Amino acid sequence: MIEFESLTYSYRSGEHRALDHISLSIHQGDWVSIIGHNGSGKSTLVKILMGILEDYEGVIRVEGTVLDDENRAELRKRFAIVFQNPDNQFVGATVEDDVAFGLENNGVPREEMVRRTEAALQAVNMLSYRDHEPSRLSGGQKQRVAIASALAMAPDVLILDEATSMIDPEGRREVLDILQKIHHEGRTTLIFITHDLTEIEQSDHAVIMREGRIISEGTVEEIYQDTDALIASRLVLPFHIKLSKRLLDGAYMSYDELVRRL
Ligand SMILES: Nc1ncnc2c1ncn2[C@@H]1O[C@H](COP(=O)(O)OP(=O)(O)OP(=O)(O)O)[C@@H](O)[C@H]1O
Ligand SMILES: [Mg+2]
Repeated sequence: MIEFESLTYSYRSGEHRALDHISLSIHQGDWVSIIGHNGSGKSTLVKILMGILEDYEGVIRVEGTVLDDENRAELRKRFAIVFQNPDNQFVGATVEDDVAFGLENNGVPREEMVRRTEAALQAVNMLSYRDHEPSRLSGGQKQRVAIASALAMAPDVLILDEATSMIDPEGRREVLDILQKIHHEGRTTLIFITHDLTEIEQSDHAVIMREGRIISEGTVEEIYQDTDALIASRLVLPFHIKLSKRLLDGAYMSYDELVRRL
């Protein structure tokens, strides 16, 4: 679905390369998690994909088509992104308007627009706030609305850049459940950026970034076993993984499996 080939990027003011020869393939329908500490290049990578940053070196292909100035806008319509800071992503006067905005822009008929807006707000438990002003919501509520706006678009590629950072633990679980549901439907490719290794468990593929490079990638199991990369990127293993490794000489077990064995 998406292929990065030797993607390299430097900010004008930056001393180092924010991205240093990143090559990565993302398959259609996969849930791909990108992890790494602050400043490792995660947001830069998705901003380039969204066309927010330009003048990169390397090649990006979307379904085999090389992304260029002519097709970027068209291809971007199939992507939706939710950023880590929800404050600067609101355009509507009410929560409902905000979620409907993208649909209206895409010429979605009114009835369907209402239906999709309601369903998306329902999914993030924010339907009762439909008439509220986005600026008066809490950080976590804003993130929920931003996620609803992205969901309503039914994008081919949904990108969440630490979009759950301000949401309480139960709310995060709910967002992960929504993603799991979307993932099962198989139509949407998910790119999920997080610092939290407990949040990657359901992904098909995970990537650890450090200083603009990919230092490890593979299945979640492979990532959990790559102690060197985890230490290098200062990532903390989930408690149940640490426990299963201690109990079973380093073997990895899912939470459910560990509970069963215990
Ligand atoms: N607007 C900018 N101007 C200059 N340098 C920048 C800018 N934005 C990011 N950088 C630099 O680029 C590098 C990668 O930043 P990026 O935001 O992609 O990291 P990240 O992995 O998303 O981090 P975080 O987990 O904190 O969100 C960092 O060294 C950062 O200082
Ligand atoms: Mg970031």
